[in-house]
Amino acid sequence: MEKTRDMKKVGIIGCGVIGTLIAEACQQGLVICNGLILYDQDAEKAEKLKSALHFPVTVVSSLDEMLELKPKVIVEAASQQAAREYVERIVAADVDLIVMSTGALLDLKTKSHRIHVPSGAIGGLDALASAAIAGIDEVMLTSRKNPKAFKLNNKEPQIVYEGSAEEAARLYPREMNVAATLALTVKPAKVRVQVISDPDVQRNTHEIMVKWRFGEMSLKFANEPHPDNPKTSALAAWSAIRLLKTLIEK
Ligand SMILES: NC(=O)c1ccc[n+]([C@@H]2O[C@H](COP(=O)([O-])OP(=O)(O)OC[C@H]3O[C@@H](n4cnc5c(N)ncnc54)[C@H](O)[C@@H]3O)[C@@H](O)[C@H]2O)c1
Repeated sequence: MEKTRDMKKVGIIGCGVIGTLIAEACQQGLVICNGLILYDQDAEKAEKLKSALHFPVTVVSSLDEMLELKPKVIVEAASQQAAREYVERIVAADVDLIVMSTGALLDLKTKSHRIHVPSGAIGGLDALASAAIAGIDEVMLTSRKNPKAFKLNNKEPQIVYEGSAEEAARLYPREMNVAATLALTVKPAKVRVQVISDPDVQRNTHEIMVKWRFGEMSLKFANEPHPDNPKTSALAAWSAIRLLKTLIEK
């Protein structure tokens, strides 16, 4: 693969559910790019994804190798720990970065126009960000998932967590990036979070209630969990695909 940035290559860190859906979207032409650079700490996962694709793909064994190939955009679809480890190096290389594991951004000191936060498994963030400027009195996120997602088998709805968005994202790094995304959007307002293990829901459901200076908002998302990873909603991958399209096709 050529090493020029106008080649419009996409780097993907993490070849799990989200990384795979993004790679497939590139192959299908939903995102116009010339090639993929894949990295996963589990090299087999990157190789497996490469062999499932019929598209120019380079598998690399480190972030440095990925950066040498000059991707135009990198998508982090790995873990909060990965995001913490890689964000600064990617920003320093002047590459646009889409961060899926948004919990990692809560305590990140680096500020950069290269860091992009997708709406993830929720939406309506434009309205929330607008209200945040005017002044928000209250934000409440209620997330319901089937007990399977928590490896529980309660027969009645059961609150598994109640507290702040920051703590929820720390205690549930795989499940509660939604809380982190909300917290980043409505800053300096604080988000209260309730997580419920609910046998009556099959979909990952997020309800957001906002009281702000000039009105109220209520938003509800009922997302199909991905069969390979019930913690992840397909909408999260599609939000990354949309953001990737705008960054790479500009
Ligand atoms: N923002 C949102 O609304 C939202 C929604 C869903 C998932 N997520 C987050 O997106 C991330 C990816 O989700 P997924 O469902 O694709 O997960 P997944 O478990 O299916 O795949 C993650 C992949 O990343 C790899 N990985 C983990 N740590 C790594 C590291 N340090 N370096 C390189 N590779 C590493 C793993 O080996 C795995 O193959 C997770 O952190 C998840 O919590 C965010």
